[in-house]
Amino acid sequence: MSGPVHSMKIGGQGMSSPYPIVSQSEVAIVPVIDISGLRKTARERSLVVKEIGNACGRMGFFQVVNHRIGKAVMEGALEAASAFFELPEQEKRKYESGNLREPVRYGTGLKDGEEVTRNRRFFIKHYAHPLEEWITCWPANPPNYREKMGEFSTQAREVGLELLEAITESLGLGPTYLTRRMSGSMQVIAVNFYPRPHTPSPGSTVGLPAHSDYSCLTIVLPNSPGLEILDPEDSSWKLVPVVEGALQVHVGDHLEVLSNGIYKSVVHRGIINVDETRISIASLQSLAMEEKMEPAEELIDEDHPKGYVGSSYMDFLEFLYGNELGQGWSFVDALKIK
Ligand code: OGA
Ligand code: NI
Repeated sequence: MSGPVHSMKIGGQGMSSPYPIVSQSEVAIVPVIDISGLRKTARERSLVVKEIGNACGRMGFFQVVNHRIGKAVMEGALEAASAFFELPEQEKRKYESGNLREPVRYGTGLKDGEEVTRNRRFFIKHYAHPLEEWITCWPANPPNYREKMGEFSTQAREVGLELLEAITESLGLGPTYLTRRMSGSMQVIAVNFYPRPHTPSPGSTVGLPAHSDYSCLTIVLPNSPGLEILDPEDSSWKLVPVVEGALQVHVGDHLEVLSNGIYKSVVHRGIINVDETRISIASLQSLAMEEKMEPAEELIDEDHPKGYVGSSYMDFLEFLYGNELGQGWSFVDALKIK
């Protein structure tokens, strides 16, 4: 089931859509890649690797199916997330913190500390790898939260590693170029909650402002549409269609750096649905906290000089402290060697 999802508008006059009207943006044409071929013959693998490489080079975004995370695991995680956000505010606020280095944080706004009162998204973020180390800090309520979110996190990490292998292979660096450095790597789970507004406003309402992810790769499980990506071809926002059972994959800033700019991190934002609460679970994978990501030597030559300075996850946190909401997404720009 590979191939583009065709362009169409939703929310126009008289259009019937299976989804609520969330935005007037055009729907993005993004590849939906069947990744089961990565585990089949060398020929089938190379076709899928090529497809993934093309998607990373064009938009920095694609969706995957046949990723091996079962429906029950995905639904279990979404249900646990929903039950968490239904808890009384004071229970959730126990996890609130202005300290970006806190391994479990509840809050609102884009990244941290910033209070966005009108159009907002709530989040809980927690470290997830190694799971045994962090899971005891995760919310104890709802009672099945740790189990359900833990299952999803472990499996999402596996999918992430499998995709990173394919991605470095597509860059000609071989499949273990990055993953061999990832045994002690970071995984952050960001669970986003976009409540349905009391008073709907016409058009799209942004819950999570434009940014690119500070990760190598981000894998997102949404319960409904609302993710928009910036199409680099015409610099317009495009709504990502939700494909049953698929996971959404974002190229993060660190892959852009590693690839020396061959792949670009995708700028994206979260839209509030007018008549439905939206939840998404994002798994962000990075190198270890203090490990610097540099452009691959193999991708630097006279015609392609080194385009980025090295940086670590910690450097990103430092950057966030000093920058305003909405500017966080330009961290990768700050790394560019002009
Ligand atoms: C994020 C994010 C998108 C979404 O958590 O970084 O971009 O679909 N989420 O909610
Ligand atoms: Ni994001």
